[in-house]
Amino acid sequence: MMKYKVGIVGATGMVGQRLVGLLQDHPWFTLRLLAASARSAGRSYGEAVAGRWQMDSPLPPAVAQMEVQDAAMSARIADEVDFIFCAVSLPREQTQAMEEGFAKLELPVISNNSALRMRADVPMIIPEINADHARVLAAQRRRLGTARGFVTVKPNCSIQSYVPALSPLMDFEPQALQVSTYQAVSGAGRRLMDWPQMQGNLIPFIPGEEEKSEREPLKIWGRLDEGQGSIQEAALPRISAQCVRVPVSDGHLATVSVSFRQKPQREDILARWANWRTLPQRLGLPSAPDPFLVYREEDNRPQPLLDRDAGQGMAVVLGRLREDPVMDWRFISLSHNTLRGAAGGSVLTAELLCKQGYIPHK
Ligand SMILES: NC(=O)c1ccc[n+]([C@@H]2O[C@H](COP(=O)([O-])OP(=O)(O)OC[C@H]3O[C@@H](n4cnc5c(N)ncnc54)[C@H](OP(=O)(O)O)[C@@H]3O)[C@@H](O)[C@H]2O)c1
Repeated sequence: MMKYKVGIVGATGMVGQRLVGLLQDHPWFTLRLLAASARSAGRSYGEAVAGRWQMDSPLPPAVAQMEVQDAAMSARIADEVDFIFCAVSLPREQTQAMEEGFAKLELPVISNNSALRMRADVPMIIPEINADHARVLAAQRRRLGTARGFVTVKPNCSIQSYVPALSPLMDFEPQALQVSTYQAVSGAGRRLMDWPQMQGNLIPFIPGEEEKSEREPLKIWGRLDEGQGSIQEAALPRISAQCVRVPVSDGHLATVSVSFRQKPQREDILARWANWRTLPQRLGLPSAPDPFLVYREEDNRPQPLLDRDAGQGMAVVLGRLREDPVMDWRFISLSHNTLRGAAGGSVLTAELLCKQGYIPHK
């Protein structure tokens, strides 16, 4: 198979660094281009990330020597690669302008940013759940006037443990969902050792996170309306989310209580979780974990330290399913926030879109 040439815009950041690691030795993708702000442009990648390389594995020498490009040189970037991953810390309007600018240069953008997530013709994809939403790209291309370029996004890292757990149960019609998330510091692009306020402490507020955690699942569970060229958000379940930053390096944990229109039996839930094989596994996508959902019987699991790397950080680990005295059922779920929740999720989305022909070779 001819490999796709790919670039990372925002390559020096936390998500960008994860992407660098995942794209090393990827069977379908070759990392050809690294871009960031004008502050990093012109330097070697090794110089640009000196003192801020946050991964456990060492910086690959071949990547360290690559010159960082200025993301503002968009035409040059669009010439060099088949598609880009984008993970930048910029205000919403600037992110939107940057991403749509690349798309209009006929460059597909696989985005980690939130700016375009709620646009009705921008698919927000978890490949195991709503791969069919990619079909809305035809409408987005009409709006942007492109033949090849588009923007697709992945959802916020906070929702990527409880939305996968509930998706196999949707035909029991969940009505109300109460979720509390315990979110790792890497979700803020930071490390425990550099964040004194997090030592022996937690922070009960993450700006914007509860709103995203309540709304984004409804788009994931929404319906593709090809006539309208949009994703129509689901009306139910009603969601109440509380999001807390905790002194954990990686791995977002969620405690979930849920009520259904038709209350399932415990065995039904466990069977659905155990037997859920979805499109990425059937297609054999290189980053698809198999299984996607892992249920642990032990009372003290899942734990971030022990379970976040399940399925190379791409699986979701569940535990403690029990009846809830107020709602119907409760359980605990965990996902790796910078792998499944960010870089890994976007690599899997890119694999899906390549396999399904949305990203042709140039
Ligand atoms: N961390 C996570 O777990 C996580 C999870 C999901 C989504 N996200 C999202 O992913 C995005 C990046 O997050 P992060 O944690 O990786 O942030 P980060 O560590 O602060 O890195 C930000 C990146 O953006 C680049 N950048 C800043 N201004 C730019 C400009 N004008 N043009 C081009 N590049 C520019 C930076 O380049 P310089 O080094 O040159 O400044 C850097 O590469 C954000 O939208 C965030 O919400 C993060």
